[in-house]
Amino acid sequence: MTIKVAPSILAADYLNLAHDVALVENAGAELLHIDVMDGSFVPAIAYGPNWVKALRKVSNMTLDVHLMAVEPERYIDEFAAAGADIIGVHYEATNHIHRALQQIKGHGIKAEVVINPGTAVSLIEPVLYMVDQVLVMTVNPGFGGQKFLPEMIEKIATLDQIKREKGYDFDIEIDGGANDETTKMAYDAGATVAVAGSYVYDKVDPAAKIAKLKEVTAD
Ligand code: DX5
Ligand code: ZN
Repeated sequence: MTIKVAPSILAADYLNLAHDVALVENAGAELLHIDVMDGSFVPAIAYGPNWVKALRKVSNMTLDVHLMAVEPERYIDEFAAAGADIIGVHYEATNHIHRALQQIKGHGIKAEVVINPGTAVSLIEPVLYMVDQVLVMTVNPGFGGQKFLPEMIEKIATLDQIKREKGYDFDIEIDGGANDETTKMAYDAGATVAVAGSYVYDKVDPAAKIAKLKEVTAD
């Protein structure tokens, strides 16, 4: 097994997006990570549903939509209709995390709960039975290129333990500061998916970066 790789288009070349997406797909990336930022939950603004619709047409990768928006319920239907395969909602962004996850599942797609670095795993325990993926933020959300917070490894281990104890099979995804070293640490603790933005796209050879992430997690 190796970790599944989800390149984040936040770090891609926007004017050559189709090229950058094909590159990572051909290199074996399983998911494409799309960051949605509303300028309120996080300061930046990025990617509306039309981007997802356009990406759906050119890619067969699993479209992994990370909603960084207050009251994400307002956007779920639109992103599902646009072709998202997974939609992630932040525990911190809604008063009704259970209902938001139900709303996602109602579209017949995968539901993901996301926790910020300051949020404990225990807070999402009541919804773990219903999710397909848990995203452990390994940086504070909002920007690419930040440093991985090693303290988050413990949360991954806790989630992995809960999975074993309860027989759940959700994926555990990390997002922020992933490189070959941090991804290996996360994989060893139980992570099954790594989002990688700047590590994959900032340097000359994205395909080699994906191969490296697969190599360090091969067992
Ligand atoms: C941060 C975003 C990430 C970002 C990761 O808020 O959620 O998906 O693209 O970028 P890197 O991999 O550069 O830390
Ligand atoms: Zn993200």
